[in-house]
Amino acid sequence: MFSKIITFGLETLALVHAAPSFQVPMVSCNVNIGASGTLAHLLPDIPSGNYHVYNEAWGSAQLRSHSTTEPIFVSLTRESVGPFGMWKIEPQDDTNEKYAISNIGLGVPVHNSGNLIFPGEPGEAFAIERAGQDDNKQDVFTIKVPSVNKVWTVDTNTVRSNVSLKEELGLPSQKWKFVPVPLIPSGTYHVYNEAWGSLQLRSYSNKEPIFISDTVESPGNLSMASATFHWKIEPHGNSNEYTISNLGLEVPVHKISNLIFTGQSDERFAIEYAGQDVSKEDVFTIKVSSENSVWTVDTNTVRSNVSLKRLEQGLPSQKWKFVPVPLN
Ligand SMILES: *[C@@H]1O[C@H](CO)[C@@H](O)[C@H](O)[C@H]1NC(C)=O
Ligand SMILES: *[C@@H]1O[C@H](CO)[C@@H](O)[C@H](O)[C@H]1NC(C)=O
Ligand SMILES: *[C@@H]1O[C@H](CO)[C@@H](O)[C@H](O)[C@H]1NC(C)=O
Repeated sequence: MFSKIITFGLETLALVHAAPSFQVPMVSCNVNIGASGTLAHLLPDIPSGNYHVYNEAWGSAQLRSHSTTEPIFVSLTRESVGPFGMWKIEPQDDTNEKYAISNIGLGVPVHNSGNLIFPGEPGEAFAIERAGQDDNKQDVFTIKVPSVNKVWTVDTNTVRSNVSLKEELGLPSQKWKFVPVPLIPSGTYHVYNEAWGSLQLRSYSNKEPIFISDTVESPGNLSMASATFHWKIEPHGNSNEYTISNLGLEVPVHKISNLIFTGQSDERFAIEYAGQDVSKEDVFTIKVSSENSVWTVDTNTVRSNVSLKRLEQGLPSQKWKFVPVPLN
């Protein structure tokens, strides 16, 4: 659209000859204001979802938090912070001007406490406001406590800085970028249940529910078996919703009564962070969003179908691990 307008402007210039040269910038400028003005009222600036959050003065250092006893911070250290560097942003009202901001790893919202930002209940609504673009032409924002008119700010010239509240001065250290990140990136995975250890989720047929079993495959059946152990996970946009498909059968899964079957009918499941297992790896629940029931397996058996049961806090048989498998 932009290049069309420029072209139109240049043709006009060529035709009219004597047209004053300020016409081209004026045309494109008007169009830009019109477009952003219209959109701003239809959509929140930051749609509900999971994000990595970066400060303009800190480049690729992610905003993170590991504990409710210290302020959230940015740091140049390179360790992988996983869900502790992921933030759930939720618009709080119809005007889309205020947001709850929660750390995914800790599972709690953040609030202002003594001009520092701490994770922990109760959450607080922050205003996220447009503050132009960075050098890479990406939108940046301020994050403000509306009642005191102070914004999230970090120190510079240090390897680690807490987030504190300071008067808004338009500094790079007060501008933040939100980059959408699905909890489980699109890809192919082996799927394990926490109560079942190294045994993989599998499916051989659309006629029976997907299951976990301790049977050992006959060597002649291994290539078929290998594909049936592979699951394709596809996030939908930046929501928590995913299509889960079996690679061997080449079909997605869906629920029939309280069991999970492979089949043609595509259904989206919500995958939510549920902490870490004993080997410090991230585990997740897989939920039917509309009913708060989650994928569950039986224990004390050699084989279990995947069924839907009400979520009970801390039950290993309701926690799943996704281990990426490269396809060759
Ligand atoms: C960050 O905040 C914590 C807790 O208030 C404090 O102990 C620590 O010294 C602060 N870090 C820096 C770099 O200011
Ligand atoms: C492969 O394994 C499945 C499930 O155990 C079984 O139904 C099928 O008959 C086996 N195929 C061969 C060739 O052994
Ligand atoms: C798994 O589900 C199938 C189909 O509903 C059923 O026939 C089978 O008995 C179930 N297996 C177990 C162990 O419950």
